[in-house]
Amino acid sequence: MKYFLRFLAITSFWLRMLRRAISGGNRCLKAGILLLLALCLIPAALWGRGRSRGSIQPRCPSRLNDASFLMRPASRCDDGAPFLVVLVTSSPDQFESRSAIRQTWASERWFGEARAVTYFLLGHGRERQDWIEWEGALHREIIQGDFDDTYYNLTLKVLVGLEWLCCYCPSATFVMKTDTDMFINTDYLLQLLSRAPRSNLFTGYIVRSAAPIREKTSRWYISKEEYPGETYPPYCTGTGYVLSTDLACRVWNISGTAPVFRLEDVYVGMRVAELKVEPVPIHFKPVFFSEGAPFSICSYRRLVTSHHVRNFEKLLYWKALQDSVGERCPGDS
Ligand SMILES: *[C@@H]1O[C@H](CO)[C@@H](O)[C@H](O)[C@H]1NC(C)=O
Ligand SMILES: *[C@@H]1O[C@H](CO)[C@@H](O)[C@H](O)[C@H]1NC(C)=O
Repeated sequence: MKYFLRFLAITSFWLRMLRRAISGGNRCLKAGILLLLALCLIPAALWGRGRSRGSIQPRCPSRLNDASFLMRPASRCDDGAPFLVVLVTSSPDQFESRSAIRQTWASERWFGEARAVTYFLLGHGRERQDWIEWEGALHREIIQGDFDDTYYNLTLKVLVGLEWLCCYCPSATFVMKTDTDMFINTDYLLQLLSRAPRSNLFTGYIVRSAAPIREKTSRWYISKEEYPGETYPPYCTGTGYVLSTDLACRVWNISGTAPVFRLEDVYVGMRVAELKVEPVPIHFKPVFFSEGAPFSICSYRRLVTSHHVRNFEKLLYWKALQDSVGERCPGDS
């Protein structure tokens, strides 16, 4: 208000002077006013140019030339850093899976002060693009890259997610990558991560000494040209792995120069190995399952991931877990 009044006063003063100068015909006054106007306009113009240049530049330089964002939700990270960002790879037509996930494990979860937030990663929606845009505007958690949404572009999809994390949500402590056919016990994961090291962490269902599949008919076929080695470095299956944000962003940072390898989980394992970090279990008991774990309240309370969980099962399991909070399980202390 104060500035507004001052602005009004100054403007009216100048208008009065201008009118007097134009009608009065005092050459000296006219020249003086023009000079002053010019002096005011030059810094304003420079300031404006600086501002617009600033807003065009991304917050951090992209590593992925061919994967600009089609949709990038306003970050929920600026108003309070999330402890965990969950990135779910999803294809454009999986509307129902995303809906089931929103109603269950991706609803905003807290463990004390630690918050988990979930985003979906999608490629181009093609004929469904209009729907995706509505969905994104409504839920504001769809990160969409400008590339074909195919299985072989999965590595690119994950890298787009990491780019979003590192450029728009670097305040997060951990990031998890998972898929739509998964059940994630977000609450238990938050609890485990609250005791985990906050840098150089890579955890999940760890696979060691896996050999590349050389049969051409397989979905996971890898030629000798693509990967000449006998075995892959240790990696965590794409069903659900967690990286501390510092490590995730170092992976993203060195990915600009590495050839993209289409098995996304192996790719992340290779980059982590390049950074001389080893995957480690997060608990002495297995908690990440890369297959489906049969449901019981007590077993699901103490797991982080279960695979092949259909949408109605997500809803049932989640409700059973929420309804039984406070009930004891064998072995609880
Ligand atoms: C990945 O996406 C790009 C860009 O849309 C496309 O040109 C390419 O064919 C896709 N690759 C595969 C293997 O689907
Ligand atoms: C990113 O990688 C470059 C080399 O490719 C390195 O010089 C730089 O320090 C890295 N930055 C981070 C934040 O890791």
